[in-house]
Amino acid sequence: MKYRIKDPSLASEGKKKIDWAEVHMPVLFNLKKKFKLNSPLDGVKVAGCLHVTKETGVLIRTLRDLGAELTWCGCNPLSTQDDVAAALVEEGISIFASRGVSNEQYYDDIHATMALSPNVTIDDGADLTVEMHNSGGNISQVYGGTEETTTGVVRLRAMEKNGKLKYPIMAVNDAETKHDFDNVYGTGQSALDGIIRATNILIAGKNVVVSGYGHVGKGVARRAVGHGANVIITEIDPIAALKAKLDGYSVLPMISAAETGDLFVTTTGCKDVIREEHILRMKDGSILANAGHFNVEISIDALKSNSKLVKQINDNTTEYELNKGNKVYLIGEGRLVNLVAAEGHPSEVMDMSFANQLLSAMKLIQSKGSLSPAVYDIDRTQDQEIARAKLESMDINIDTLSDEQETYLTGFSEGT
Ligand SMILES: NC(=O)c1ccc[n+]([C@@H]2O[C@H](COP(=O)([O-])OP(=O)(O)OC[C@H]3O[C@@H](n4cnc5c(N)ncnc54)[C@H](O)[C@@H]3O)[C@@H](O)[C@H]2O)c1
Repeated sequence: MKYRIKDPSLASEGKKKIDWAEVHMPVLFNLKKKFKLNSPLDGVKVAGCLHVTKETGVLIRTLRDLGAELTWCGCNPLSTQDDVAAALVEEGISIFASRGVSNEQYYDDIHATMALSPNVTIDDGADLTVEMHNSGGNISQVYGGTEETTTGVVRLRAMEKNGKLKYPIMAVNDAETKHDFDNVYGTGQSALDGIIRATNILIAGKNVVVSGYGHVGKGVARRAVGHGANVIITEIDPIAALKAKLDGYSVLPMISAAETGDLFVTTTGCKDVIREEHILRMKDGSILANAGHFNVEISIDALKSNSKLVKQINDNTTEYELNKGNKVYLIGEGRLVNLVAAEGHPSEVMDMSFANQLLSAMKLIQSKGSLSPAVYDIDRTQDQEIARAKLESMDINIDTLSDEQETYLTGFSEGT
């Protein structure tokens, strides 16, 4: 078995964390129980490129227990939990991931993962899928891939549009039981968790500027309000901006928000959202964090080129003393703050995301390569199944339609 991790001696710590997560992921656990008798993934090779966290550990165990042969790498240079990686290696999984890798090592790890010649790829951000296409991946035996996040789906839809996509992709992110929960509640809570762990600032009374009022932005804004912050939204989409205003937030262009913000959180999936002209207007002590997929939302080059001194305050916070004298703080090198400075999303929410991953991977395996290369939405029946199972695990019952109600809702004859 091949692997490359930071420290195998951390395995026992990692195992405890995965065991903890497993208890909090009942939907995935019950799916495993349901399918296990038939070993539906026997002989199937799966390559994963997804943050190596304790919840991903539960997904990996699930795929292994259903029969898959696996290799796995991280999908961000700073998000790997080294103890979890060590535990998974001890459990016999080929892991190529460690926290703090260089860009070069990051791509070496992806290539080591690709060497399995997978039948299914499981991706988060599309780096593995793009490498499979452009850097000598063995595409011929791939049934298809899944994609976990908004930015990855955007990239893969662009590949499809340009005629470059060579195998089918299940857009896991676009399942309602994924983006309406993971992106909103998961990132909302864990992004603030990361900011608080890195700085221990009091959020109450702060002006918190949230860039982007999509799924992640809504979650972060709502949680910041819960902490007592005054939230300001920046947007480029008039509809999203209007929703933010009517939800009770102030809406400003970044050039104005820059002057009043104490804490800035980017959640857009776009690049250069906070740039030089914004940084130069910021108050002394402003704190910057990113919750979007890539570290392109805050211009780190602009921070560096306008600073006379750069100092590391703690593991995850860097102080930039600007040439004009005031200080601006960047958390987690502008990478996903919830995974770099905290532990990523709570297990309960990853339960639904990874149930979607499992069911989507199984659909691709059942298709045995018969689907044409396109990005596929998730069936509503899959969403319904997962939501129902989650409610059951929470001991929550809901109403059902009577025959009369069903007829009424699908008919047109009854009016005023
Ligand atoms: N941190 C995490 O764990 C985590 C979890 C889920 C998604 N994500 C990532 O977060 C990002 C956002 O995901 P989402 O699901 O909220 O996407 P979304 O499409 O629902 O929302 C993005 C919003 O940002 C706005 N926007 C785009 N460019 C902008 C700009 N320059 N300035 C201001 N607003 C801008 C868009 O109009 C949109 O309303 C993606 O990169 C996604 O991959 C991260």
